[in-house]
Amino acid sequence: GVVRYYDFTVSRGVIAPDGYQRDVLLVNGAFPGPLIEANWGDTIVVNVHNNISNPEEGTAIHWHGFLQHDTPWEDGTPGISQCPIPPGRSYTYEFKATLYGTSWYHAHYSAQYAGGVVGPIVVHGPTKAKYDIDLGPILLSDWHHREYFDIIKEMLAPNGSPRVLSDNNLIDGKMHFDCSTVAPGDKTPCTNNAGISKFKFQTGKTHRLRLVNTGADGVQRFSIDEHMLTVIAEDFVAVKPYNTSVVTLGVGQRADVLVTANVGKPKSAFWMRSNLTSCSAARQPKAVAAVYYDQADTSVTPSSRAWDVPDPGTCSNADLAVTEPLYPIALPKPTFTHTMDIELFKNASGVTLWKFNGVSMRTDYNKPVLPLAAQGNFSYPAEWNVLNFHENTSIRIIINNKGPSAHPMHLHGHNFYILHEGPGTWDGEIVRPSNPHRRDVALVRGNGHLVIQFDGAPGVWAFHCHVAWHASGGFFASLIVEPEKVEKMHLPADVEHNCQAWAQWSKHNVVDQ
Ligand code: C2O
Repeated sequence: GVVRYYDFTVSRGVIAPDGYQRDVLLVNGAFPGPLIEANWGDTIVVNVHNNISNPEEGTAIHWHGFLQHDTPWEDGTPGISQCPIPPGRSYTYEFKATLYGTSWYHAHYSAQYAGGVVGPIVVHGPTKAKYDIDLGPILLSDWHHREYFDIIKEMLAPNGSPRVLSDNNLIDGKMHFDCSTVAPGDKTPCTNNAGISKFKFQTGKTHRLRLVNTGADGVQRFSIDEHMLTVIAEDFVAVKPYNTSVVTLGVGQRADVLVTANVGKPKSAFWMRSNLTSCSAARQPKAVAAVYYDQADTSVTPSSRAWDVPDPGTCSNADLAVTEPLYPIALPKPTFTHTMDIELFKNASGVTLWKFNGVSMRTDYNKPVLPLAAQGNFSYPAEWNVLNFHENTSIRIIINNKGPSAHPMHLHGHNFYILHEGPGTWDGEIVRPSNPHRRDVALVRGNGHLVIQFDGAPGVWAFHCHVAWHASGGFFASLIVEPEKVEKMHLPADVEHNCQAWAQWSKHNVVDQ
């Protein structure tokens, strides 16, 4: 493989993707940020410069879904793999593209990615799927009109609510917004009919669309009127192709779908839709974009009708029986099984927080777990919510969701096996043990269970709810796999230098979580 170099500068900016102006954080001045593109086996090098000022903030960028098995310190997770990059400083990430398909990067500092620090990643690799045109990534994201730290402050105030309403829903960073719905007294500049994303289809040809849910909270249901979608990959896992009219994506999840433009005439236009499901807290849940066949007049508004597929009301992914990895791996016997409950509670000051495995996680950005472990330090305050699996490498986790809301559960560094998902508690059934589904994010429904298993790689891996607000509310754990190997890891000197710089900066500054 070759080396792909990128330079990212994270800074503040003002944009109005849906017509309502707001302060955001941008990567190289753009939202969504620039595409990272590589071939399978390539090395990706990204020099990230923190140019956030007025006020200053730390940052760190996570390469979602990348395994990082040779380089767990490049995972971009403050408090786990590194200290945040202080304002005015740079950190260079270097890691291998050991998987291929569609993914994204996002800030992993506080809920900063909900403030705009997100972008797509495509790793090209072999495929058995037949298509003519790669339309590239399409980012689906709920959108908030307020800054992320204001949202967190309000949520973490006594009697604050963990249910954060989004203001709009975007397809590839665009959507209309009805400015007449703005609260009276809000003088923020707002423009009606800001514009939607537009896509071109070649009549008769098959197109590959790379869907990514890059939102803060909402579960998306994506469709194109009258066109069947053939799913060929879920997250970084190729699947046996299956047809569906609607694809459900929780935050962090991806689906690569094929769509053949054989429904309309060369002059046809159709709506592309992405709806936040009923279990998402949203003011304007419906996003649209326009799809134009090659000879269509692109100033015309499509008049197609949506598929008649009702929202199922429960937020879960497609039936595990139909989502089958293309390259089978039989489920190994676990050497260790652990149960982790998801609970909401009110702390002594009346703040509603999440508990995962009995702990509401608070991290210490000055003391990331992996660099400490590499120095032989394996004792932590309970509030860091660190689980040490010792010599176990085949780990099964039974997740019991004791609350009513669905959660996209994400494990860093692994494609985990999904053994079962459903309402209530697990009865021990495993869906297709000869080839269970695998991916890096899986939804657990409200008052339901999710059973996963993973072949652990040495390192310290974040395991959390990908809803930005829930992670900030403590729904986060760190898993240590093979500590005796972690202790022998030689981290690059940059990791330590960055921590020294962060310690200097944070001494004089307030840090958001
Ligand atoms: Cu997409 Cu912990 O990350």
